[in-house]
Amino acid sequence: MRILFLGDIVGRCGREVVLSRLPTLRATLALDLVIVNAENASHGFGLSPGIATDLLNGGVDVITLGNHSWDRRDLIPHINGAPRIIRPINFPPGTPGNGSVQVELADGRKALVVNAMGRLFMDPLDDPFRCMTDLLTRHRLGVTTQAIVVDIHAEATSEKWAFGNVLDGRVSLVVGTHTHTPTADHRILPAGTAFQTDAGMCGDYDSVIGMTKEPAMARFIRKMPGERLQPAEGDATLCGIMVETDDATGLARRLAPIRQGGLLSQTLPDF
Ligand SMILES: [Fe+2]
Ligand SMILES: [Fe+2]
Repeated sequence: MRILFLGDIVGRCGREVVLSRLPTLRATLALDLVIVNAENASHGFGLSPGIATDLLNGGVDVITLGNHSWDRRDLIPHINGAPRIIRPINFPPGTPGNGSVQVELADGRKALVVNAMGRLFMDPLDDPFRCMTDLLTRHRLGVTTQAIVVDIHAEATSEKWAFGNVLDGRVSLVVGTHTHTPTADHRILPAGTAFQTDAGMCGDYDSVIGMTKEPAMARFIRKMPGERLQPAEGDATLCGIMVETDDATGLARRLAPIRQGGLLSQTLPDF
């Protein structure tokens, strides 16, 4: 299965680079499944139902979220009727929406997509490791589903590495989000799970993690309430990772980063 995962979409320029380039990428890379993190898609904070619908109609199969899940409150009544939008699995019991979704491709193959959130330097939540273990008692890679993709939305690189290694051999891909910075450590772990600490953001890198520089810098320099942060709206880079899995085992065969448009060095998978 050929899977593309794109990191946090930030603001209008992030949405536009994804929506404008995805149809061509889907065709040229022969993608079977496209997943995007969109927790910052609506002006940097949250995801409106309208933008979610645009993404799902524009070639995205599953949307993941994170700590900004509910910044747009209109998503709360919408999410239960939109199973392809998932929020972290370790939110408290009773939280609207789901932390995972099983999708069926047009050819009948199945893929499970999961969103989890780290706890180090983040809001306290249930244990994401235990939530994953519980979920994987009901889903077996290569048996009940051909692929399992996990978005670990976390600040700390150590927690993401631990998450990948705990899940090694039991899922197809563990990819980090939230830091908005692509890491060069994409690799296949010893038992066959593809891993990358952070996919990077789809947004304008002439910024501070997607937000205009002046107010973001002022926050670090002055101990005064400042201007509200606004998304930077220059040329955006589409940023993520592509994985090809073996349908029999569900494990990764190869992976490569993708960076298209904007300021970052450009790269496309060559498989
Ligand atoms: Fe984010
Ligand atoms: Fe985040």
